Amino acid sequence: GRERLVIAVDGPAASGKGTLARRLAAHYGLPYLDTGLLYRMVARAVLDAGHDIQDADAAAAIVASFDEAAFPEDSLRGREIGEAASVVAAMPAVRSGLIARQRRFAGQAGGAVLDGRDIGTVICPEARAKLFVTATPEVRAARRHRELAGRGEPATFEGILADIRRRDARDSGRSDAPLKLAEDAVLLDTSALTIEEAAAAAIGIVDARRANPGHENAIIS
Ligand code: CDP
Ligand code: CDP
Repeated sequence: GRERLVIAVDGPAASGKGTLARRLAAHYGLPYLDTGLLYRMVARAVLDAGHDIQDADAAAAIVASFDEAAFPEDSLRGREIGEAASVVAAMPAVRSGLIARQRRFAGQAGGAVLDGRDIGTVICPEARAKLFVTATPEVRAARRHRELAGRGEPATFEGILADIRRRDARDSGRSDAPLKLAEDAVLLDTSALTIEEAAAAAIGIVDARRANPGHENAIIS
């Protein structure tokens, strides 16, 4: 059979990790899972059921039983759902309740591409290639600002920058599976890169790992 290739793509909000993960999946012919959507679904379900977003018991009950097919993607991409997702994502019962479905996805025969915050550190520590995608908060805020305007959800640049900084602090500061660089991940700073340039760099990183699955760190920018 063909080589099994698991690619972990982690990074902060609006760094471009989803765009890169999709490109990698298409390039290598692998299935792709946006794990952020799982946390967004839990947050959506907690709010739709009328619970407070801080209600960890409600979130834990939902995670045990929720149906991924019940959530149209458009209902998950809004600004306040990203914020709410980062609140439920700090709850250990929510994180542990989502591990099995992520690992099952990663366990498919040929491999898979997953993106999120803890793929290289917790979900797929054995991944062949790990990318940590980043960009400055200002570049990320500008990207998200453009994206939300396209959704017809206008917001100020300053408001989005504040959201991004708060989400970075919460995602990096939580005790369970915080956002951090895995020791064998390659850092890809996309601040000054177009999507095409970033995709070419990401493919170069993965090809290098396939050719030589060592553990050296590298910084690409
Ligand atoms: O697209 P964006 O980067 O804004 O967010 P996302 O990837 O959809 O993730 C939404 C929130 O879910 C993040 O702020 C994290 O708190 C959480 N998340 C996580 O904790 N672990 C993951 N593997 C993926 C997302
Ligand atoms: O998944 P994540 O939240 O990290 O980011 P994304 O959804 O892949 O990218 C956020 C936005 O930035 C999208 O509208 C991308 O088209 C854009 N982007 C960009 O302008 N330049 C890049 N190098 C990567 C993404």
